[in-house]
Amino acid sequence: MQDLLNTKKHDETRQGEAFAPFALDPNVYSKRFYIESYGCAMNFSDSEIVASILNQHGFGATRQVEEADIILVNTCSIREKAEQYVRQRLTEFRRLKDAKPGLLVGVLGCMAERLKLKWLEEEKLVDMVVGPDAYRSLPALVEEAETGQKAVNVILSRDETYGDISPVRLDSNGVSAFVSIMRGCNNMCSFCVVPFTRGRERSRDTASILKECSDLADRGFKEVTLLGQNVDSYYFVDESKDEVVNFAQLLEKVALISPLLRIRFSTSHPKDITDDVLYTMSKYENICKYIHLPIQSGSSRILQLMNRTYTREWYMAKIARIREIMPDCGLSSDIIAGFCTETEEDHQDTLSIMEYSKYDYGYMYYYSERPGTLAHRRYQDDIPLETKKRRLQEIVDLQGKLSQESNKRDLGNTYKVLIEGNSKKSADDWMGRTSHNKVMVFPKGNHQLSKGDYVDVFVKTYTQGTLLGEIVTK
Ligand code: SAH
Ligand code: SF4
Ligand code: F3S
Repeated sequence: MQDLLNTKKHDETRQGEAFAPFALDPNVYSKRFYIESYGCAMNFSDSEIVASILNQHGFGATRQVEEADIILVNTCSIREKAEQYVRQRLTEFRRLKDAKPGLLVGVLGCMAERLKLKWLEEEKLVDMVVGPDAYRSLPALVEEAETGQKAVNVILSRDETYGDISPVRLDSNGVSAFVSIMRGCNNMCSFCVVPFTRGRERSRDTASILKECSDLADRGFKEVTLLGQNVDSYYFVDESKDEVVNFAQLLEKVALISPLLRIRFSTSHPKDITDDVLYTMSKYENICKYIHLPIQSGSSRILQLMNRTYTREWYMAKIARIREIMPDCGLSSDIIAGFCTETEEDHQDTLSIMEYSKYDYGYMYYYSERPGTLAHRRYQDDIPLETKKRRLQEIVDLQGKLSQESNKRDLGNTYKVLIEGNSKKSADDWMGRTSHNKVMVFPKGNHQLSKGDYVDVFVKTYTQGTLLGEIVTK
C-alpha cells in the first residue's frame, strides 16, 4: 500500500503490523485474536483500545495468525492504494477461513465505516464490520458472528472518546506511546475522506488524558505523542471544575507531569495553531521542538478548492512566526500533487513554498479521488496519472535535497537524544531521536546506557534520513 514514490515511511502508509502477544494465560484468555493495523497513528492507537476491550472480555492477543480464533484488520481509506492492499489481505484471510471453520474475520476502522454493509452483502469476505466509534460493541459482535449472524456496527458517535479505556500497549518499545486526545474532524478538506469515516470532532476529557500520561510516566515511558486529526482545535469544557481547556493549556498540563517525559503532537492545521501553542512549546524544554504542519499545495487557488481555509501568504506568515518564536523548530509537511485543475504554475508554487519553508521532511502523495468527498462531487479528477506522478517525483526530489540541507545544518551540533533501542543495522549502535524529530544513530561504546535514557550526541555526519553521531563525554 506504500505509494511507490514515497521516500519516507509515513504514518498513513505504514505497512500492516502484527502486534506482539501480551501475557497469554490460557486460564484467563479463552480465545485468541490477531490484529493488523493500517493507516495513521490514530488507527494504531485505536488497535490498542480494541486490544484492551477484548482483553477485558477474555480474549488474548497473538502475533501468529495461524493461532488466531479471530482475525481483525484495522483499515484505512485515505487513498485508493491503501484500500486495495487491505482487500488483497482480506482475500488471503478468506483462504485461511476456508481451511479453518469457525475462524472469524473482522474489518475495523475507516474502510469498515466507508463501505459498511457492502462487505457482508456483496463481498462475503468478512464476518464482522466495525466502525471506529463502535469498538465497545466488539465482544457482543463476536458472539453474534459466532452464531452465524451478520455482525455490523458502523454507527458514528458525537461523544465517544474511549476516554476511560486504558489502552494495552501493543508492540511497544516501552519508551514512546500514543495518547489519543480527540476523535473525528470537522474540517471538510475537499479531498479528504476522514470526516466521513471518523465523524464529528470531539475532545477527550482532560483528566483522563493526564491520567494516561502520568501512568505512562510512572511505568517508565519517556515520550507521549498526543494524537488527533486537528490537535490545535482541542477544546474541553470541564463542568466539574468550571474550566475550559484549549490545546495550549493541555500541552502545558502534560508538560508539567515530569520534566523527563517528552511531548510530541500530531497533526496541526495551519489555520488553528496559535501563538499560545508556540509560546507554550518554547517555554517547556520537554515539549519537542517539532511541528508537522501540512501545506497540501503552495497555490492559493488550489488551497481554496481544497477548502483548506488559508492562503499561500497566510501559511508563509505562520512559518515565519514559528521561526521567530522557535528558531530551532523542526518542520515537516504533507503535500498532494496533481489535485483537480492543478496547472504547472500551481505546481511551481508548491515547489517554491517548500523551498521557503525548508521542511526537514515531507510526506508526499499524488491525488487519489475518494468517493463521496466534496472534491469527488464538485470537481473533475482531470490531471493525467503520468502528470501526477511526474509532479510528485519533482516534489520528492526537492524534498530529498531539502532534507540533506537540513541535516547538513545540524553538523557539528550537539543534541539531547532519547534512546529508543538498537539501531536497525547493528546492535553495537543506539537509535534515538532529537527534540526536532531527527533520527540519530551512534555507537554505544563503553557507556552504560539503556533504552529510555537521554544522552548528548554530537553530529559527525549524515545521510538523507539519519544523523550519525558520537556520544559527548563530559
Ligand atoms: N488531519 C491531517 C491529515 C490526515 S490525512 C491534516 O489535516 O493534516 C494525511 C494526509 O494524507 C493529508 O495531509 C493529505 O496530504 C493526504 N491525503 C488525504 N486525502 C488524500 C487524497 N484523497 N489523495 C492523496 N492524498 C491525500
Ligand atoms: Fe482530512 Fe482536512 Fe480533517 Fe486533515 S483536517 S483529517 S486533511 S478533513
Ligand atoms: Fe486512514 Fe482513517 Fe487515519 S482514513 S489516515 S486510518 S483516520
